[in-house]
Amino acid sequence: MPVALSPILRTAIWAVVAPFGFYCSLLALGSIPFFQRHLLYLHRVNGLWLRDINEPELFGFAKGQVTPFFLTTPDNESIYSWHITPLPLYLQNEEALASQEPGVAPDITATESFRVLKGDPKARIVIYLHGNAGDIAQAHRPDSYHVLTDASPYHVIALDYRGFGYSTGTPSEPGLIQDAATLIDWVINVAGIPPDRIVLLGQSLGTAVASGVAERYAAEGVEFGGIVLVAGFSSLPTMLGGYRMGGVIPVLGPLRAWPSLLRVAEGVIWEKWPSAQRLERLVRLTKTRLRLSLVAAKDDADIPWVESDKLFRAAANATVDGGLEEESFAAWKEERTIRNRDDAFVTTLTAEPNIVIRQELFPYGGHNAIMGHAPVALAVMRCFDLGGTVYTEKTSK
Ligand SMILES: *[C@@H]1O[C@H](CO)[C@@H](O)[C@H](O)[C@H]1NC(C)=O
Ligand SMILES: *[C@@H]1O[C@H](CO)[C@@H](O)[C@H](O)[C@H]1NC(C)=O
Repeated sequence: MPVALSPILRTAIWAVVAPFGFYCSLLALGSIPFFQRHLLYLHRVNGLWLRDINEPELFGFAKGQVTPFFLTTPDNESIYSWHITPLPLYLQNEEALASQEPGVAPDITATESFRVLKGDPKARIVIYLHGNAGDIAQAHRPDSYHVLTDASPYHVIALDYRGFGYSTGTPSEPGLIQDAATLIDWVINVAGIPPDRIVLLGQSLGTAVASGVAERYAAEGVEFGGIVLVAGFSSLPTMLGGYRMGGVIPVLGPLRAWPSLLRVAEGVIWEKWPSAQRLERLVRLTKTRLRLSLVAAKDDADIPWVESDKLFRAAANATVDGGLEEESFAAWKEERTIRNRDDAFVTTLTAEPNIVIRQELFPYGGHNAIMGHAPVALAVMRCFDLGGTVYTEKTSK
């Protein structure tokens, strides 16, 4: 006799099975490289159809303050970028900049803004490496450029990686690192700014790009003014266990109940973005000076802030020959930590040669708004050693 399930029971079973089935199909889809790329980079999700990013006044910039231009990578991708002139410098050159031809500059080196940049003896550059999804002017991004350029002397240069916004190509780990390297080479060789006047500022996925590119230059003996990583993560597969897309949709989180299944899923994440390893290597490669700043918000719903702990752990490990013992690490870190309230702290580690590694947990700012919050602007200023002595009440060594 066939068992007749009551309609209520049948509905209940479906209520459990359907989301589970949907989640499993998404996972299966996500294991296919094409879909994985789109799900992780979300590079096609943008607002280009809504507004014209070649008109930066739309985002509150002064006329001619932002110059959009394209860089060409060695593998012939066109990378869309913004050069944002700091307002104090803009004011001194207002007439020339405001009359600059609007839109994408066909030859950036022929623009007024480039002339102003080249002629700025104090020029300091923040290379802004954004996170996944959206374009150069998406959501919080323009506001975070404003924070850095409205009152400071810093030029910000931001870019859309390959496959994002108006840039050509398809995103990939080596590709994104190449795009950042292309911009850095341009700043050093074409704009003539020495690396110690350049800070790499990455957010979310951009922290992985910054770590990758900083390690690459360190291997060639190039040291930057500093590296600021906001809402960073240790490696992509490890991070996905705790990641929530848009702060809501767990990606591999539900698999944490089955560690072996989680490992299988982590194994099919093709691109690893191993930032913890890269930072460890960066620290070991440092010959003269390093300023590495890790900032995260306690209320980040996308990437758990403890990922920054892992980055700090890896970087700190490289400051001591033979590494730091696992058992005593927590106490070792606490000695270098200041807690002003129980949901925030600052750890400052100083080491030879002239290395400062700083980790800050800020109570507010979530995953994105933090980019416009004081700790990020301060971290950039600290990289340029504008804060006088390093602020540590407990620099016990
Ligand atoms: C580079 O790409 C452009 C189109 O974006 C194309 O016109 C040009 O021929 C390419 N150059 C090389 C050397 O492949
Ligand atoms: C720290 O460094 C030591 C020596 O290089 C290494 O054996 C150990 O795995 C490292 N620990 C971490 C957590 O990176």
